[in-house]
Amino acid sequence: MKIAILTSGGDSQGMNLALKGALDRATAKNIELYKVRRGYEGLIDDEISLFDYTDIVGRENDGGSAIMISRSSRFLQKKYQKIAIENLRSKDINYLIVVGGNGSFRGAIDLIKLGLNVICVPGTVDNDLNFDTTLGFDSAANNAISAIDNILDCTSSIGAGVAVEVMGRESGDLAKYVGKALNAEYVLTRDTLIDYKEIAKIIKKYLSIGVINPLIIVQEKFIDLKDFVEKIEEYTKYKFKSQVLGYIQRGGRPSAYDRVYGYELGVRAVDLLLANINNVAIGRLNGELVTQDIEKSLNSKTKFM
Ligand code: F6P
Repeated sequence: MKIAILTSGGDSQGMNLALKGALDRATAKNIELYKVRRGYEGLIDDEISLFDYTDIVGRENDGGSAIMISRSSRFLQKKYQKIAIENLRSKDINYLIVVGGNGSFRGAIDLIKLGLNVICVPGTVDNDLNFDTTLGFDSAANNAISAIDNILDCTSSIGAGVAVEVMGRESGDLAKYVGKALNAEYVLTRDTLIDYKEIAKIIKKYLSIGVINPLIIVQEKFIDLKDFVEKIEEYTKYKFKSQVLGYIQRGGRPSAYDRVYGYELGVRAVDLLLANINNVAIGRLNGELVTQDIEKSLNSKTKFM
């Protein structure tokens, strides 16, 4: 048996631990593990080679992915999916572990249709898969919280509010969770009606009880943050700053939770293939590490209010 592993989509903290877990298990079971550099792009371009300890040792606790990631538009086309399969088959590899988010899981489904055996591991900061958390979400939330704590030091000195945009793509989970943790005055996500009068009313209420640096957390990519802040200033008559957090959330060392989670996902992915269980996603659900139909794992609902 030969297994390949790739990381795909946006990198997330804990991916390297998943790689290390898979390598440790494969080595213990005398199985050859192959790395695919640059996710699905590398699968198309045949960047597939033996994965050994020199690839990961010393980097397992780092953020990012030691074997790199990519977003591949080519992979959406059947002809490139077929090339990817041929590249694996030419090395007698029939098993693949995909660590990534929902786009990566969809790519895995395409490969399964072409006859490959795949295990999907939820690696993304977005928390948009049907598991308790995706790998990296906890670390990204902690990074966001600590960055915003710093911002609040400044806005409390200036005497200004701030609207901070956090990642999450289509999911408002990161915004809601970070907002809760920071006791934000307001959290704006795609599923919130944007009513400037109402938001201003809430902010003014906090200002009236002595809050001097009101915090608004905003889910990314659905409003123009600068326009939003201008309107909030107009409606509240209070100074507001804006800040997009970006990669500060996604980079950096994984939290304890994501280290343990990442490693156990990597180990379990190899174990499942060894037990001849293929074409499922694995992750923690209700605190247990479980397998799940890949399609089902794509149906994720918001976990935070
Ligand atoms: O999917 C993870 C994520 O960090 C999203 O939260 C964000 O929208 C996106 O990736 C950014 O993608 P990129 O790194 O390709 O710009």
